[in-house]
Amino acid sequence: MFPKKLQQKLNKRNDNNSLRQLEGYDNLIDFSSNDYLGFSKSKHIYTRTQRLLKNSKIEQNGATGSRLLSGSHQLYPILENTLCTFHNSDSALVYNSGYNANLGVFSSVPQRGDIILYDEYIHASIRDGITMSNAKSYKYKHHDLKNLETLLKRIKTDVEIYIVTESVFSMDGDSPDLIALVNLCETYHAHLIVDEAHAIGVFGKHGKGLIQELGIEKQLFARIITFGKALGGHGAAILGSKPLKEYLINFSRPFIYTTALSPHSVATILIAYGELLDTTAIEKLRQKVLFFKAEIKTFKLQEHFINSHSAIHCCILPGNNKVKTMSKKLQQNGFNVKPILSPTVPEGQERLRFCLHAYNSEKEITTVLSLLTTGI
Ligand SMILES: Cc1ncc(COP(=O)(O)O)c(C=O)c1O
Repeated sequence: MFPKKLQQKLNKRNDNNSLRQLEGYDNLIDFSSNDYLGFSKSKHIYTRTQRLLKNSKIEQNGATGSRLLSGSHQLYPILENTLCTFHNSDSALVYNSGYNANLGVFSSVPQRGDIILYDEYIHASIRDGITMSNAKSYKYKHHDLKNLETLLKRIKTDVEIYIVTESVFSMDGDSPDLIALVNLCETYHAHLIVDEAHAIGVFGKHGKGLIQELGIEKQLFARIITFGKALGGHGAAILGSKPLKEYLINFSRPFIYTTALSPHSVATILIAYGELLDTTAIEKLRQKVLFFKAEIKTFKLQEHFINSHSAIHCCILPGNNKVKTMSKKLQQNGFNVKPILSPTVPEGQERLRFCLHAYNSEKEITTVLSLLTTGI
């Protein structure tokens, strides 16, 4: 018998029209994946990855163990050195996913007595890591640095303070004032950690991210970068100081107690980084973002959209029913635009999330927005 309490929770989700279900693969026009540059389907990356594995004489499917035992195969140091150079970082430590990386940092770095201050809309993986930590944590209002400063003023001076935000918020597409945040951290001697999951491949020269676009990488305590979004693969890394890497290798349980990424996965990431250096996809994506923003104005939809310069654009349609109906309508017309329901976002803030890609055409953008206009 399935436990009654669990069934009740599922029933409640069903009643709220927020039951999560896995969907099959579809052939709709992609306005929902994180494959911003089209790298996941790039034949060029695929072929070059095979070549790299062959040239490196790697004939091995799995990593065979954790990084600390048998899993640290020869491509790992090559990737981590590449990441240090590309991202102007003293160290890089690869994790199996962004979820794991965030659990790994926040569960192990802040100590009992330390304080973590986080943006209220921070990603679930960071929240889960914070929950696992022994430090005290407080949220501040989304992007509200005044609210953050009020919290900072209340903290005694002899504790370590960690502040965490995303450079591009995954469910909003917007960005904090990172320069002001860096200055605030300096004033209050706080360590700043920024999740760049949705900024890599999108912002900065060669897609190096928003932190490097602003030139503030040396002022941060750590950056989280992920390879499952614009890089088209999977995995993640923590960028930071050499002692931070040494600490994580020793104390970050989501790093220690798991099988490492396969050589094939690491090779794909390496080749994707090479691709960033001479792809035209980043520029194409930027043009599509500008076009999308211009079309929002043309269709007079600005008041419905959260202001964003990233590849993520969200149209607020309050209520799970309303947003689900609109998403279905767009899907029936061939466009894959996903509804983001409460409780993933606060009630009343339900939204359609448009993810833009280098490969979306202007015609597709215009058509999907005109369909939205007629139903809003
Ligand atoms: C901001 C942010 N951080 C971390 C993650 C987790 O990354 P991954 O998909 O590699 O586990 C995501 C993905 O949804 C994200 O949006």
